[in-house]
Amino acid sequence: MSLIEVRHLRKEYEGATPLKDVNATIDEGEVISIIGPSGTGKSTFIRCLNRLETPTSGEIWVDGVDMCAPDVDLPEMRQKMGMVFQNYALFNHKLVVENLMMAPMDLLGMSKQDAYDQALDLLKKVGLKDKALSWPSELSGGQRQRVAIARGLAMKPKILLFDEPTSALDPQMVSEVLSVITDLAEQGLTMLVVTHEMRFARDASSRVFYMDQGELWESGTPKQIFENPQRQETRDFIFRVRSWNWEIRNVDYDYYAMVSSLQAFCARQFLGRHISLACELVIEEVTDSLLIQAAERHGIADPRIAYELSIGEGGEQANLRVDLRELVASGVSGDEIESHADDVTKQVLGGTISQQSMDESGMLRLVIG
Ligand SMILES: Nc1ncnc2c1ncn2[C@@H]1O[C@H](COP(=O)(O)OP(=O)(O)OP(=O)(O)O)[C@@H](O)[C@H]1O
Ligand SMILES: [Mg+2]
Repeated sequence: MSLIEVRHLRKEYEGATPLKDVNATIDEGEVISIIGPSGTGKSTFIRCLNRLETPTSGEIWVDGVDMCAPDVDLPEMRQKMGMVFQNYALFNHKLVVENLMMAPMDLLGMSKQDAYDQALDLLKKVGLKDKALSWPSELSGGQRQRVAIARGLAMKPKILLFDEPTSALDPQMVSEVLSVITDLAEQGLTMLVVTHEMRFARDASSRVFYMDQGELWESGTPKQIFENPQRQETRDFIFRVRSWNWEIRNVDYDYYAMVSSLQAFCARQFLGRHISLACELVIEEVTDSLLIQAAERHGIADPRIAYELSIGEGGEQANLRVDLRELVASGVSGDEIESHADDVTKQVLGGTISQQSMDESGMLRLVIG
């Protein structure tokens, strides 16, 4: 028997059925990333596994124990199967080290000294040994989440469940938390991680579950799911999360909103600094120095310039599609746009773009990097 077996799991609420029929088996040591659109039952699935929710029907077996049996020892099973939430939920009136000592002393009967020694070991493991005597409020969000992970580990679980452990964090803190989770994966802990971080799903998991419409729609190795998804929904989802889209509908567009959205996208994809900056530079330069000026020369107030940036395999190159059909239909030509480029623009674009082409309708394709 596998470590976790789920058969025909169904969860109904009045007016919603987040889980219709989920079947899955998970072996010891596996790291499963669960991805999928919002509202498709990912959190419900995780919460059913450790019985924070009671399934409507179906079976869940964990380490040979029937989780739905009336006499199941839930505290014991939850010790075996820790959970880390999106919002760390530390006790703010306790020191960091105390946060890690309470459950082992109360629930595992550990002595104070042993619990203290273990807490320091775990803090060391997540890179926070020097914060043992800090208050949670003195830590950054990423540090608090690492404490929450250490606290989960303090109960010596066989399985750790994570529900979007990084989605409340700023981009720069995401990677410190993910690298702690990646380290745990290398030590053989079994983990299920609901995540929007595709780079993590691709690089750190042994299998990826794609959930949609209350079902486990597709599962496979990261390579299968990201490079060769079998179902159209999976393909669409992967493409959507791996591309950035933005439309400019007014020559007085919101430059800062565009750039910050682009930066957030690049951070989520874990793009290298070099390629992120190149994308930003190209999009800024093309928009401000070329396209908006062309629109203004022709008196076009709503130029409908649409960008679609997608990341090539390996993250070293990016493909940018620019929809200029509205401009072209209004009489702007590619040659005219290019002829107005000044030396700075030419230099910036020359140094960052490796290929370019435009078709007659006005779809411009650029390869950055
Ligand atoms: N306690 C509840 N009562 C009623 N409906 C609920 C309850 N919990 C979840 N749902 C519904 O179940 C569906 C799935 O919710 P769930 O939180 O599992 O989705 P999710 O995949 O985790 O989404 P997200 O990516 O946004 O976190 C949603 O339509 C939600 O409204
Ligand atoms: Mg959720």
